[in-house]
Amino acid sequence: MALQRLDKLLSATGHWSRKEIKDMVRQGRITADGRPVLRPEEKWDPQLAEIRVDGQAVDCAPFVYLMLHKPAGLLSATEDRDQKTVLDLLPEHLQRRGLFPVGRLDKDTEGLLLLTDDGELAHRLLSPRKHVDKVYYAKVDGIVDRDDAAALAEGMTLGDGLRCLPAGLEPLGDGSECLVTLREGKYHQVKRMMAARGKPVIYLKRLSMGPICLDERLKKGEWRMLNSQELQNLKGQ
Ligand code: URA
Repeated sequence: MALQRLDKLLSATGHWSRKEIKDMVRQGRITADGRPVLRPEEKWDPQLAEIRVDGQAVDCAPFVYLMLHKPAGLLSATEDRDQKTVLDLLPEHLQRRGLFPVGRLDKDTEGLLLLTDDGELAHRLLSPRKHVDKVYYAKVDGIVDRDDAAALAEGMTLGDGLRCLPAGLEPLGDGSECLVTLREGKYHQVKRMMAARGKPVIYLKRLSMGPICLDERLKKGEWRMLNSQELQNLKGQ
């Protein structure tokens, strides 16, 4: 792998800004292959060098993968002329990295959104042939029943002719809440399917995508890096 400036490869982990890295270098807190780093511009191989901060090894993998608890009111886009996007929730050094959401959630949908700059992985996860399960919690105006579950399981054809793959529907509580599992991600798909059943969605939240579940400790608007186990599971999809 090509050599990279230490401040670039450390800031890419998402843990520190370049300014913080500069300060840490000055304070002698960073070592590379056992020797103190003297300048943030020093170049190292992110895959071979053993970089430590305060004695702790740092994983300098070339891509960033994070989960965000999307609140309602933000667009799942990288930029917009008028409205705020999910990238506005990230610190500046991550905003500059070129991260993008892996699939979209509607403006009023909450929950799990993965962001990365690894285009290849994102492409694989979104490929229609991959059928990565996405689980949504929905509140509906009405009560879902077995007929609704059977209709989704069969694969619905919507009013405009859109054919949906078989999907899962599990009623919760009195049936005004449910879990919907999709294997694809068509525009407004949960809302359109439930509306077609005469039970429009009044609240929607994504709980998981493939092996990645929304971390319940993340409040709306908060994010964290995926841990190595999550990343391994995701890459194994
Ligand atoms: N289905 C929808 O209708 N909206 C979303 O945001 C995601 C899935």
